[in-house]
Amino acid sequence: MKGILLHGGHGTRLRPLTHTGPKQLLPIANKPMSQYCINSLKEAGAKEIGIIIGGIGANKVREYYGDGEKFGVKISYIEQDEPRGIAHAINLCKDFVGNEKFTVFLGDNIIQKSIEDFARKFENSDAEASILLCEVDDPSRFGIADIKNEQIIKIMEKPKNPPTNLAVTGIYFLTPVIFEMIKNLKPSWRNELEITDALQMLLENKYKITYDTITDYWKDTGTPEDIINANGAILEKMKPYFDGTKEEGVKIQGNVMIGKNSKIQKDVEIQGPVIIGENCVIESKTKIGPNISIGNNTTISEIDIAESIIMSDCIVKGKLKMRNSIISKNSTIIFTEQHNQNEKIFLLGEGTKILF
Ligand code: DAU
Repeated sequence: MKGILLHGGHGTRLRPLTHTGPKQLLPIANKPMSQYCINSLKEAGAKEIGIIIGGIGANKVREYYGDGEKFGVKISYIEQDEPRGIAHAINLCKDFVGNEKFTVFLGDNIIQKSIEDFARKFENSDAEASILLCEVDDPSRFGIADIKNEQIIKIMEKPKNPPTNLAVTGIYFLTPVIFEMIKNLKPSWRNELEITDALQMLLENKYKITYDTITDYWKDTGTPEDIINANGAILEKMKPYFDGTKEEGVKIQGNVMIGKNSKIQKDVEIQGPVIIGENCVIESKTKIGPNISIGNNTTISEIDIAESIIMSDCIVKGKLKMRNSIISKNSTIIFTEQHNQNEKIFLLGEGTKILF
């Protein structure tokens, strides 16, 4: 079974984080979020993966994944001129897919568990499509499936009055019959060729669609809060390691991963889950965690930080309570004055400087 990874789009909802690159390369636990999707596709049995690229920083995707060898798969790139919809992107992969069944993964979807069993079940079934559903609190943000007697009766995109709270996740098991449906699709209200419309067309043409339900973690990382939440979920499941050095008085609790050459100075408190990359310096009296990722070559000093992501090559210094923040790489934040102890939120694009 081949795999398709959607890595296009403009990521407008995540600006300024996406001014310099695609959202799917934003890091979760210090790895691009789409790398988790590549792993999931591998688990589904995909040895060849077609990556849809387009929009800002498409070249960064090629640079990072290359021919796929480093990731144990063969990667081809398929360019999409504009984000004309998920079904449009899938249609561009017709030649790549050939006559095989295939798995599509949206590059901004994060799950914790392997999809291997779902993939195997689909491969051994006579269904033309299989989707994974997940109960959500805000169904009008997603594609939604209506179910009766354990059969899908309708699939719709972001309905105003959702009949169920069963979101159609961005993981689709398909056969080439989907291309026949996409041929007849019309652009939706958001001017996109919707995969949900193509699936609905399969239903209307009496093709068999099955479903499974994801009962553990699934997240569409549409907002900074979602990314921070996914970061916590991934960190929680990682195996702890300590490859750095620490001085006296350092307190470490919970699931903590510390990379090579990183120095934790005295009296630092780390409350996992936390990952700190390589060559970082965590200066004295800093308080980190829970739910923090810090990229390589970053220096943090005195700050009290939780529920946040600081990318590589940053400097963050000062007596400051930082929460729910994402700071992109090469940024510098230095607070020289004592500020009030209210929690501060930062959402900073690459190369930002704040000196207070
Ligand atoms: O995450 C699940 C949801 O994903 C589903 O419930 C919806 O049915 C489905 O339409 C989709 O909704 P979104 O509005 O969240 O899709 P978004 O525009 O964020 O695109 C999803 C991914 O696909 C994202 O990584 C960007 C990429 N993409 C998107 C479009 C429209 C492309 O590569 N090309 C495109 O043309």
